[in-house]
Amino acid sequence: MEKIAILCSGGDVSGMNPALKRFVEYSYAKGMQPFFVYNGYEGLIDNTISIANYQDVAGIMIRGGTKIRSARSARFSEASYRAIAAENLRQKGISKLVVLGGDGSFRGMERFHDETGIAFCGIPSTIDNDINGTDYCLGVDTALNVIKNAIDSIRDTASSFRRAFVIETMGRDCGYLALVSAITSGAEVCLIPEIPIDIHEYKGCFESQIRNGRDYFIAIVSEGLKNAQEVSQWFEEELGFESRVSVLGHIQRGGNPSVYDRLMAYQFVTHAIDTLLKGNNNSVVCYTKSHFEFKSISEVALNPYHLDQALLTLGREQFAPSHCQM
Ligand code: F6P
Repeated sequence: MEKIAILCSGGDVSGMNPALKRFVEYSYAKGMQPFFVYNGYEGLIDNTISIANYQDVAGIMIRGGTKIRSARSARFSEASYRAIAAENLRQKGISKLVVLGGDGSFRGMERFHDETGIAFCGIPSTIDNDINGTDYCLGVDTALNVIKNAIDSIRDTASSFRRAFVIETMGRDCGYLALVSAITSGAEVCLIPEIPIDIHEYKGCFESQIRNGRDYFIAIVSEGLKNAQEVSQWFEEELGFESRVSVLGHIQRGGNPSVYDRLMAYQFVTHAIDTLLKGNNNSVVCYTKSHFEFKSISEVALNPYHLDQALLTLGREQFAPSHCQM
């Protein structure tokens, strides 16, 4: 029986547990023995690798975080530790790895593959959504919903108090979380590294809005700019608005996975395993969505809607009576 392992590396995301569930179920469906590597690359080195079975993944679909834990491993960047990791895998007969992580994790894996020949497929997983080549990283939708709920709650208190709230989102140097959150929460200000704006430029406009009755402000800032305090001070000093800073922090990484992240987890893992089985030994599954486009009325209105083929295939396989686990 061919052996395949999965690990989570870097910041955890909601969606990793659904991915583990799919990994176990789909590996067995494809006639392979699945293994879990606990604690990311650290676990490869420390040999915390064990067989995964259906019971291990029962009930984890709805849980954030990752049952097999994650880590940022400094040791894995050293060749001597990678050699230990490879030996641990070889001794268990594992020749294929699925890695949920970010670009740093994939760079480490590529080195590992070059040195050892162990096949891998990466699944982009970071709330930052900052991986080149994919429109979507696992966990982003859940994080955006957590942020949305937080901002909606802050709006309740902001509007009751005549205050400015400066809300800092995660994202490292990428402004994706802040930008999408600012747009979808109706914020007045969005400051991210990719759109340089001098907050002072808002002064005249905001003064006019205040004269016309505005009595609270919501400003979303990305953590990469490190300017939440400064912006808060600006509201106090320049606009005379009492101001508070709210750093959302690690709540953005938690929460039960959204429907979208559960579905994406299933699809990412399916593609990862399929490509490894086809002999593609060194790749990352990327999701590139289509853009908006225009179609004729006849095409849209005179033809029936069909469910996405990939989704149908997933459903046929997942719910086939012949796949029912006893
Ligand atoms: O990369 C994910 C992320 O949550 C970033 O948004 C954030 O800057 C960082 O990880 C926080 O890392 P840690 O959990 O190590 O504090």
